Amino acid sequence: MFLKKNKIWNLKESSITTESVFNSRRKIIKNLAIGSLVFPSASLIPFKAFSSFYPPITNNFYKVGRDLTKESLATTYTNFYEFGSSKNIWRRASQLKTDPWLLTIDGLVNKPLTIDVNDLLKKIGGIEERVYRFRCVEAWSMTVPWAGFPVKKILSLVEPMTDAKYVKFETFFNPDIAPGQKQKWYPWPYQEGITIKEAKNDLSFIATGIYGKELPNQNGAPLRLILPWKYGFKSIKSIVKISFVNKRPIGLWEKLAPKEYGFWANVNPNIPHPRWSQKSEQQLGVDGRIPTVIYNGYGDHVASMYNKLEKSLQNNLFR
Ligand code: MTE
Repeated sequence: MFLKKNKIWNLKESSITTESVFNSRRKIIKNLAIGSLVFPSASLIPFKAFSSFYPPITNNFYKVGRDLTKESLATTYTNFYEFGSSKNIWRRASQLKTDPWLLTIDGLVNKPLTIDVNDLLKKIGGIEERVYRFRCVEAWSMTVPWAGFPVKKILSLVEPMTDAKYVKFETFFNPDIAPGQKQKWYPWPYQEGITIKEAKNDLSFIATGIYGKELPNQNGAPLRLILPWKYGFKSIKSIVKISFVNKRPIGLWEKLAPKEYGFWANVNPNIPHPRWSQKSEQQLGVDGRIPTVIYNGYGDHVASMYNKLEKSLQNNLFR
């Protein structure tokens, strides 16, 4: 992963259209006031048909304190190495067929499952929208409204056994569609993992949509992980398999460069990447840098998971 030198967000205002539409729709939904949101996940709406529950109702439990990134930037400045190492892969990614899409959930679970994503959403019972901060290890960041459901809903479906300690996620493998996968020095397919405890944390989210619509391919359609307190490379895209395991999974970047990309990858301004500082970040579309915050500002919700770990790693949460 490399830093992009040109600020591609210096786009003409005329090329940025959809955010105002998005904001006005949010206002309408707010005015409808379908129940007040008192705790996370309270806003799940019943599933009708895959596209009919967009735009979803917003769950306002998690506050971001930042303006939304322009949709046109968040959906065109993307990392998806299966389609190439540049940020500008959205046209190529459109070749991926995402409907139907089978997801397998297996490993140490009582109720393994292979299911089409549409049916999965029916089983889950609905989606909600959450606005999260998102911080890439490359030191750019964005603030984005994701639609989807908490990862813990998957756990309720498949019932992990007590010896399942980690959850491993895997992206599709199809070099005919995704030319990046012809590059054999990458350990495809893209994989990532989290602990069971992290999977149970309400912040851990499976996104199926963004800006009130289904995810475009370049952002990881039809479903991807979102872990807003961790560097973005943990938020694996276009998932085909979720496995419950007892051994710590090794992600693609950790396999490739273990001294640069670790398992925990919690956002931490005090631990520099070996090749650059993590003290500040460049928000997409905003001039000037802002200081990076520990756990990307989500410490109240996640720090307690790392109390013991913090001591054993002598504060080195990046590894
Ligand atoms: N998932 C897959 N399968 N392939 C990738 O190359 N890139 C990761 C992550 N998930 C990546 C992936 C990285 S490095 C980042 S920063 C985020 O996706 C970027 O998400 P975005 O493009 O939606 O902003």
